Amino acid sequence: MAPMAGCTDLPFRLIAREHGAKLCFYEMVDMNSLIHKRHETYGNLKTDERDLPIAVQLLGSDPLGMLKAAERLLGLVKVSFLDVNCACPAKKVIKKNSGAHLLRDTPRLYSILQILIKELPLPITMKIRTGFSKKDDDHIVEMVKRCENIGVSAIFVHGRLKSQGYAGGVDHGAIKKVKDAVRIPVFGSGDIFSGESAKLMLDKTGCDGVMVARGGLGNPWIFKEIEEYLKTGRPPKEISFAEKKSALKKHLDYIDKYKSISAFGKTGFMRKVAIWYLKSIPGASDLRARITRETKSYQDILKIVMEI
Ligand SMILES: Cc1cc2nc3c(=O)[nH]c(=O)nc-3n(C[C@H](O)[C@H](O)[C@H](O)COP(=O)(O)O)c2cc1C
Repeated sequence: MAPMAGCTDLPFRLIAREHGAKLCFYEMVDMNSLIHKRHETYGNLKTDERDLPIAVQLLGSDPLGMLKAAERLLGLVKVSFLDVNCACPAKKVIKKNSGAHLLRDTPRLYSILQILIKELPLPITMKIRTGFSKKDDDHIVEMVKRCENIGVSAIFVHGRLKSQGYAGGVDHGAIKKVKDAVRIPVFGSGDIFSGESAKLMLDKTGCDGVMVARGGLGNPWIFKEIEEYLKTGRPPKEISFAEKKSALKKHLDYIDKYKSISAFGKTGFMRKVAIWYLKSIPGASDLRARITRETKSYQDILKIVMEI
């Protein structure tokens, strides 16, 4: 399961794991939030014994700051590896020289990786896009080779340019170039919405695995679907509405139980999650409007869901 800020919290991960996700990430952690001890960041690190194996992704720009933040992080959580975010396209992130900015500021990227790999006792990975504002596969290939030499343990590649955001198709050819350039494991990300698209990614890129991101929103069944499709080539069985309702109820229960935010924030978050699950059912737009307009609490949302 790919990292998704604002989505992949403990409730999301528990549901994903119960439906077959093999490895999950915490929500991305910002270097400065950690150093300045922002309450919300620490809340996002909530976990328990069912939530393994897990990785963490750090966003930041300053090598020493990244090390300090990583050390603090590793004092709080036990993770299989630490990933450096070189993929986030948000304006405010790029302005602070973080995220996808590192794709065009490779001296900074290499310094971050060097210090983390030298000082920390766990594998360091990176998540990249296939370029910043224009297709430049040669640059990306040179960059990943250098990162492998520095000691990066694996690379996650979202097959879009930073400038594309989430629009446009995925560039399987560019992911393949990364895969062919290094010996470490490479994982493909982008438009994995079914078993078929996972197979397409694996076939076209030769990569070692795939990451599910938006395809998992309100659809935890995707993990088993992919596994099954890769093994047998069989199309997925239809998920009944009763199954959807039951998974959604469980997801809302987990949010109620585990998310430590204000009651107001929690209800807002539950609305978002309920809408994910209900998007493909008949009458979804009316339901969405009702959930948005008529609910002020967990019970209100649950009542609408159970009435459907
Ligand atoms: C809401 C949202 C939040 C995301 N947050 C992160 C993040 O924190 N770190 C990251 O590396 N990628 C993040 N991504 C990118 C995904 O991990 C993934 O690479 C991208 O969505 C492409 O996969 P998809 O087309 O299957 O959704 C985010 C994507 C979405 C939709």
